Amino acid sequence: MIRSRVESTREFNYRDVDFERIKAIIYCKAGIHLGDSKKQLVYSRLARRLRALHLPDFATYLTYLEQEPAEQEEFVNALTTNLTAFFRESHHFTILADYAKQHQSRAHRLRVWCAASSTGEEPYSIAITLAEAFGRYDPPVDIIASDIDSNVLAEASRGVYSLDRIEALPLEQKKQFFLRGKGSNAGKAKVIDQLRRLVEFKKINLLDKHWPLQGPFDVIFCRNVMIYFDKPTQMALLERMTRLLRPDGLYIAGHSESFTQATHLVRLVGKTTYHLASTADEGAGHEI
Ligand SMILES: C[S@@+](CC[C@H](N)C(=O)[O-])C[C@H]1O[C@@H](n2cnc3c(N)ncnc32)[C@H](O)[C@@H]1O
Repeated sequence: MIRSRVESTREFNYRDVDFERIKAIIYCKAGIHLGDSKKQLVYSRLARRLRALHLPDFATYLTYLEQEPAEQEEFVNALTTNLTAFFRESHHFTILADYAKQHQSRAHRLRVWCAASSTGEEPYSIAITLAEAFGRYDPPVDIIASDIDSNVLAEASRGVYSLDRIEALPLEQKKQFFLRGKGSNAGKAKVIDQLRRLVEFKKINLLDKHWPLQGPFDVIFCRNVMIYFDKPTQMALLERMTRLLRPDGLYIAGHSESFTQATHLVRLVGKTTYHLASTADEGAGHEI
């Protein structure tokens, strides 16, 4: 068999059977469905782990993975895709601001779950939007931001970003919600403490049977994570999340995630933004 140039120049031996095992493990642990086109991507992400552990090839790494629970977390962290940005898909933040303004007279605090928060840009964008909508740094708002990846959660809770990450934000937002680093922190910006206080970070694997949080939520952001899951997993998660929404709550999906077929659960009310289908509100508020 002719091996491709990429395969023959690889630093570590990486066979199809290794890739198949990796696919099965990440599917089982995180629900992430890896297509065959991801073989090289997986190699480059895990090769870093082999180097760090001084292991000779993927077969040895996979045996090590089976025996070392701590490595399992590193494995998942290495294989998640964490692409995000402040105010990514900005239309959702306009919708959130309108929703918050319409509900300002409510007795309860607005509760938002950001279910795949990556390095924090998304929950802090939610916090900025709500601070602006309520016109105060301490709006009556609680945001839970969760992710499966412990590295991104640690980064998110630090709330420190290189200046290029916030470059596209209006000057006023940069001034109001970030502190510019000096000395050894030059070139960085830190989210102000008032904003950080609005966000609680939690490690949550959406695949777990029990989520350590309690509904009801007014808004659930679950953007650009469902795409990694197969359809049955997506539907099961959507069903669980809608049970956590208030009857007039919002479910916000990513740009390539469509649930228009799930008419028994949700109804489209804006760009990848959903309300509960009229019968789906029973059980909101129950811990699951
Ligand atoms: C592409 S990022 C999306 C970030 C953000 N929601 C956005 O739209 O900008 C996908 C995130 O989903 C997380 N993720 C993947 N599988 C997960 C799972 N089973 N449970 C929770 N989070 C998961 C990844 O760690 C990653 O941070």
